This record gives sequence, structure tokens and C-alpha cells, in this order.
Amino acid sequence: MAASILPPGPGLFATFDFVRNPFRFLDTCARRYGDWFTVRAPGVAPFVFTSDPAAVREVFLGDPEVLHAGEANRPLGAFMGERSSLFLDGAEHLRQRRMLLPAFHGEQVASHADAMRTAADKAIASWPMGQQFAIHPQMRAITFETIIRTVFGFADDSSGAELRVLLKQLFELYSSRLGTLLSLPAMRIDAGPWSPWGRAVRLTRKIDAILFAEFARRRKEGVVGRADVLSMLLAARYENEQPIPDDVFRDEMYTLMLAGHETTAATMAWVINRLVTNPNVMQRARAEVVAALKGEQLGAKHIGEMKYVEAVINETMRLDPVIPNFGRTLTRPLKIAGRDLPAGVTIAPCIYLVHRQPELWPNPEQFNPDRFLEARQSPYTFFPFGGGSRRCLGAAFATYQMKMVIAEILLRVDLKPVAGYTAHATRKGIAFAPSAGLPVIASA
Ligand code: HEM
Repeated sequence: MAASILPPGPGLFATFDFVRNPFRFLDTCARRYGDWFTVRAPGVAPFVFTSDPAAVREVFLGDPEVLHAGEANRPLGAFMGERSSLFLDGAEHLRQRRMLLPAFHGEQVASHADAMRTAADKAIASWPMGQQFAIHPQMRAITFETIIRTVFGFADDSSGAELRVLLKQLFELYSSRLGTLLSLPAMRIDAGPWSPWGRAVRLTRKIDAILFAEFARRRKEGVVGRADVLSMLLAARYENEQPIPDDVFRDEMYTLMLAGHETTAATMAWVINRLVTNPNVMQRARAEVVAALKGEQLGAKHIGEMKYVEAVINETMRLDPVIPNFGRTLTRPLKIAGRDLPAGVTIAPCIYLVHRQPELWPNPEQFNPDRFLEARQSPYTFFPFGGGSRRCLGAAFATYQMKMVIAEILLRVDLKPVAGYTAHATRKGIAFAPSAGLPVIASA
């Protein structure tokens, strides 16, 4: 590959800042190199970052056989396995994605409203009133419980108990500093049960045994009338009438758990950070929720009315995108927005930088949810869930859950910021969350 034709970019040492403080790293690169720069990491092909909306459009509308998202996502595959839709490309990806889509459609998502509210209520009841506590772990507890209930269909606290414990251990490992290293294939060495990869291998073996037993049990008992994702996928068939094979199924379940849990939790933590630091916005959002409910319990029928809460969530995802970029690896040389790129590089549309461009977003640093009420945003300038044929499968699910949980929090407690704290982004699993778990103080 001709490295000389790639745009300039930071050295390897400077790139470590991407893990420590990604938003600062991206701001620095944009200042120094402009709309295009190349980021290199050991053992993976160069990433060509772009914040040119014309390039974003071409990537989303381009040929998926040339722009491989599955290949670009592969470093994430440490625990998820590599046979899920996230890591597939071309026809295989489309075939698999078609199987998953019905479980994530609007009506299907709305059927999980009670599970989402119950998970939020359980967490809120445990918060210490009047004392400082970290709220991001609480958001993780809510999204974890929601995934267990809606994806697996374990409807109460006792079912799936062993699976819950093992999954929590795996997620903790994955979101730790050592877990970050495991995204580099060279670090995946099983040096016994105390080595990070050895521990991951042993945990996934135990989880796999439970998953395969659950698939068999569910098939035997039948899945008719069940709305959880696992049951829907067990009932689904490819065009040749074949069911999803168990090993592919296993990988899809890990992907849904990992992709769906950390991202939504981190986004909700950022929303809370924006609310506590913008009391007027918090007041207006709470007033909207109270007016929508008219004294009733929060449920599916109220979600559509919460336009301002949704605008607050969107404005947060504009400024604090928990996945600041994504990638497509080129299978052949390609001209994108007038720039020739060689085969083998990964083009990385930068969500974070496009979302802050002053030509697209007047006063870009200002937190102003009204932008989303005043105008419809273009999918090439606002794309927290990616786009094209790879747009996040769980976007509707995540948006619905975030509205539900934020509304319930606004109804139940008042939150205040902690003096002297300023959030910066820090890696948690596959997402970037506010530092130090986002300390806040709650009152009834
Ligand atoms: C606020 C929460 C979330 C954010 C910000 C987010 C963001 C993203 C992004 C940026 C991508 C890559 C899109 C691309 O390459 O163009 C993606 C893909 C994906 N997401 Fe999400 N996501 C969220 C929640 C979820 C949830 C709740 C689920 C499922 C339960 C989920 C499942 C997936 C899957 C399966 C893919 C791969 C789609 C494909 O390649 O066809 N995500 N997500």
C-alpha cells in the first residue's frame, strides 16, 4: 500500500490519547490536519478519518462489496465471535441482518416498555438520597437488566441467575483497561485462568454452555406468543426454510448484549451530565413529561409525546457521541469525495467532528436541543447511529429506552451536579462514557 498518498496524521505515541481522552485527541487532530487525517495503530490497517459530509454520504451510499464494515469492526470481535451480522459483509451480512430486523421494529420495541421502566425503577430505588454517587454504573445496571429481560426474555430477577453473574463478570473484564488491550488480536493469549484472555476464554465457555442449553430448552418448549428477541430469532427462518445455526445464534446474542448495553448506558450518562449542567433544560424536559402523563404511570403511549426529551437526547448525541467514529475497509482502490484511497485502508467517518462543524451547526459548542425541534437533520451531518445498510440495528430500541429511562428519572428524583467535576470521555467497553462514572447528587 502506498502510505505516501494517505493524508498526514499523528504519530503512534500521540494516538494513545485516543484511548485516554478521545474527544481531545480528535479536536487536536482536526485543528492540526483539517478534515482528513490518518491514524495508525499496531497490527491494524491505517484508519483514514474524515469529517467531510460529502465523504460521509459517499460512504453510506457506496457499494457494500467495496466498503467492508464487517472487516472494519473485526477488532471488536474479541468476545462476540465473528459470525454475527456486525462482522459479516456483502450478501451474507444482508441475509443475517434481515433475520434480526423484525425484532427491532417500532411496535416490537414498544412491547418492551414495561421491562424498560421496571429496570429503571429498580435502580432508582437503590440511589442514596442527598449523597454523591456515580450514576454511569447505574445506567449500566439498567441497560443490562433491560437486555436480560428483552433479549433473553428472563422476566424476573431469579431466572437466568447464573447467566447474569457470568455476563456481568465478562462485561467488567471487557470494559477494564486490560479489556481495551484485548481488542488487539496480538494480545489474545491464553496464559492460564489469571491472564485476561485466559479469563475471558473460560468465562465465555461457561456462558456458551448456558446459552446452548437455553436455545435447546426454548426450542423444546416452543416460542409461540413470546416477544423477546431470542424467541423471535428461534422462530425465524432463512429463505431456504433453515433456522439460524446455534453457533451463529450464539455470536448474535453476544453482539446484541455488548452492542446494546454499553452504548445506551454511556449515552444516558451523557444526557444526565447535560441535564444537571443545564437546569433550564432539565426543568423544561420534566414539565413535558409531567404534562404527557396527566397523572398516569409512564407507559408506551406517552413516549411519542416527548418531543423535547428526544431533542435533548439527540443534542447530547451530537456533542457527546459514545461511538465517535466507525469504519469501512476498502476491498479495492476508491475515490471518495475527490480523494484517491488505496485498497486495505479503513475510511472512518468521524461522527464527533462532523457533529461540531461550525458551517453545519451554528455555535457548535452550545448545548441547544431546540435545533432538533426547529429543523430536520440530514443523515450525512447527524449520524450517531452510523448509516446506510449498516445503520445501527438497535437505534429505535435505544432511543425508546433512553426516553423511557430519562423520563422516569425526571419524574422520580431531582439531580444536581457535584462541585468541581467536569466530564471528559473515557472508554467503557465499546463506548466512551463520562469520566469517574459521572458523580451526581440525587434528592426526592
Ligand atoms: C445509544 C445507543 C447506541 C448507539 C450510539 C449505537 C451506535 C452504533 C453505531 C455507530 C453503529 C455502526 C453503524 C455503521 O457502521 O454505520 C452500530 C451498529 C450496530 N448496533 Fe448500535 N448503537 C446503540 C445501541 C444499540 C442497541 C440497543 C443494539 C441492540 C440491542 C445495537 C445493535 C447494533 C448492531 C447489531 C449493529 C451492527 C449493524 C450492522 O452492521 O448491520 N446498538 N451502532
